[in-house]
Amino acid sequence: MIKLNFSNLTKIPAQHGITDDDVKAKAHLIPEFLKKIHNRDQGFYSVIDDKEMLKKINDYAQSVEGKYNDIIVLGIGGSSLGTICLQQSLKHLFENELNRGPKLHVMDNIDPTWLKQLDDILDYEKTLFIVVTKSGGTPETLSQYFYFRNLSDKKGLDPKEHFIFVTDPEKGLLRKIAIEEGIPAFDVPQNVGGRFSVLTSVGLLPAKLIGINIEELIKGAQKIRDQFLSEELKNNSPFALATIQYLLGEKGKIINVVIPYSQRLIRFADWYRQLLAESIGKTLDNDGNKVYRGLTPINALGVTDQHSQSQLYNEGPNDKLFLFIEVADLGPELLIPNLKPNDETVSFLKNISFNKLMKTEKIGTEQALTKNDRPNLTIEVNSVSEESLGELFMLFEASIAFLGEFYNINAFDQPGVELSKNLTKELLSGENL
Ligand code: PA5
Repeated sequence: MIKLNFSNLTKIPAQHGITDDDVKAKAHLIPEFLKKIHNRDQGFYSVIDDKEMLKKINDYAQSVEGKYNDIIVLGIGGSSLGTICLQQSLKHLFENELNRGPKLHVMDNIDPTWLKQLDDILDYEKTLFIVVTKSGGTPETLSQYFYFRNLSDKKGLDPKEHFIFVTDPEKGLLRKIAIEEGIPAFDVPQNVGGRFSVLTSVGLLPAKLIGINIEELIKGAQKIRDQFLSEELKNNSPFALATIQYLLGEKGKIINVVIPYSQRLIRFADWYRQLLAESIGKTLDNDGNKVYRGLTPINALGVTDQHSQSQLYNEGPNDKLFLFIEVADLGPELLIPNLKPNDETVSFLKNISFNKLMKTEKIGTEQALTKNDRPNLTIEVNSVSEESLGELFMLFEASIAFLGEFYNINAFDQPGVELSKNLTKELLSGENL
């Protein structure tokens, strides 16, 4: 089970840190916040009980087993980031080079070079395209779909065999196409927002198709969901996390730097970046006041970014909260053979493994930040597994829900994204006149 360790926050002066008592002083808000979240009718914490959804995914996966060499996800934002994270976290880091199962490629951009070069390598007869768009109307995703559908059609392939949609159960262009053309489609529940949808068919379908144990993911998420619904602070790590982010935000720590010490979790930080940015960055509060709220997410990777960002973090503006993700089991112990034991540059590397070096560097980094009065906490994970990833997804989704209530904003909409979508549409329509 993941653990939230925020002892470092209590070791630095009050203006930059917080104490256990500060967090406890907010505990009375849990019932009220839970009620408010409940009233928002959001499904991110109940969709994980949907056994029908799992059955549909499992049945489909079984029916197509061995049929495809390449699985292409076309989608963007909440429709792709969770899937990218699932692949990076739970598959071999060079899985696509191993030629031992379908290769997953998640195409979350419309860069023509990337799309064309994907076309160059595909054998369309052995390819499945999963088109993921909750709204069914995102121009980037629809354009990608049109491009690959056109190429597939030209090869005389049956779209029902090579395309599958994940979209709104009723609304949107993609659902319309699914109905008109009989293309199989999975639902994104209407009350689950894009960035909260990784544990729906959006993430679970591609995950299952590349052999990820989706039941274990769900099991992990359910454990944290149960914490989230608990009115007791000591059982509710999502609330504790949100409280820390909020209290430190009020002390000017308006940047949240997520630093997993695990190559597997690098894309988890990408997934969270969207969740925090889109959910909390809002002009209006629930009463219509202009409040311009937001916490700015930054991604970093241990140990890589010690050599790119540490200088700023230790000596620059003290406006950040650092969220380390530490993994106890980093995989098989990999010893560093010290070929120059007598050279003082590396003489300390005696019988040391990469595992030990990586963990020690994390400790060194957090100690330096703490010494420099930089607030930091650690989310401790036993290993990167389906279950722990399910826990992490739910920990951060649920804490975002609480954070929204702290700020008295709607964490579940994204009017700013809609505006730029609409303006692009207007610009292109103008050009066609
Ligand atoms: O969180 C969100 O709702 C957005 O980031 C969406 O995921 C993103 O805009 C893609 O939307 P759609 O899934 O409708 O294509």
